[in-house]
Amino acid sequence: MFPSLEELEQGLRGSGYIADSIATTTVYLAAKLHKPLLLEGPAGSGKTQLAYAVAEAADTTVERLQCYEGIHEEKAIGKFDESLQRLCVELRAKSANADWESLQAELHSQQFFSAGPLLRALQYEKPCVLLIDELDKVDHAFEALLLELLSVWQLSIPKLGTIKARSIPFVVLTSNEERRIGDPLRRRSFYLRVEHPTAEREAEIVALRTPDSSHEFHAGMAGLAKALRGWSLEKPPSVSEILDLAQALKVLGPERVTPEMRDILLPLLAKTEADRRKLLLRDGFASLLYDAQQYTREALRSAV
Ligand SMILES: Nc1ncnc2c1ncn2[C@@H]1O[C@H](COP(=O)(O)OP(=O)(O)O)[C@@H](O)[C@H]1O
Ligand SMILES: [Mg+2]
Repeated sequence: MFPSLEELEQGLRGSGYIADSIATTTVYLAAKLHKPLLLEGPAGSGKTQLAYAVAEAADTTVERLQCYEGIHEEKAIGKFDESLQRLCVELRAKSANADWESLQAELHSQQFFSAGPLLRALQYEKPCVLLIDELDKVDHAFEALLLELLSVWQLSIPKLGTIKARSIPFVVLTSNEERRIGDPLRRRSFYLRVEHPTAEREAEIVALRTPDSSHEFHAGMAGLAKALRGWSLEKPPSVSEILDLAQALKVLGPERVTPEMRDILLPLLAKTEADRRKLLLRDGFASLLYDAQQYTREALRSAV
């Protein structure tokens, strides 16, 4: 998928994803060794986006299976298109020399099967990225279904038979850790924790999204993010919320958050009632901004 680590690095950056060297190397090795990559970490930390960035860097497609409670095989693998089958039977019944045996075989061929993302991912000439997103939402039985695919790169489908991969996809599994992913899948995968970025890296991410703003603004957002995460909030903000905040500030005008902006910005910073109260405490917001300033200075220093 990637001729060298350097090319992957440039490719990810080119697609607007800022990854550290551990993440880049892990992606590179997983792709080279045909291992699935399990990404775990808080919501909004860039797991889904990493899969899309890898696909863009490799100039290939993403097949995405969005997991949810109660998801079933049909959604993931596919199912026979019954109305198309019925139509075919009706048409053939009209012709005098209908051969029922060959008709039956035909009806259970891939022609009449509408494939889901898992099956589609095996059928590309050039390997695609198969993103199995938020796997922690499904139960163990569904995880077991993935094991065959990930160990022998084939799917056994009743009546259709065994479909072998034409190319081996690069599989990315993500989890927000609402449930622990089982050990068999962990054993087969490479594991990468996606945490909140360092202030320096977060400043770079903000800079990509708000390129017209100043360097100080980007560092300021990263500093504020780090300060908020040090405040033991119930829902500390993730990268995506900091990007929202940066964009909101751009709309409003000021390049710096000041204590007077507390009430306007509170809905963007606090996502639960407890967190709101915490930021409303006497001096709460002002001392948060004080912490943020310290981190901003650090981010600016380390970027020099
Ligand atoms: N390292 C990064 N580089 C660029 N953008 C990032 C990075 N990490 C997170 N983001 C941005 O943050 C947002 C949330 O990321 P997402 O992948 O949806 O999070 P997750 O899947 O972990 O919940 C997206 O807009 C994404 O572009
Ligand atoms: Mg996601």
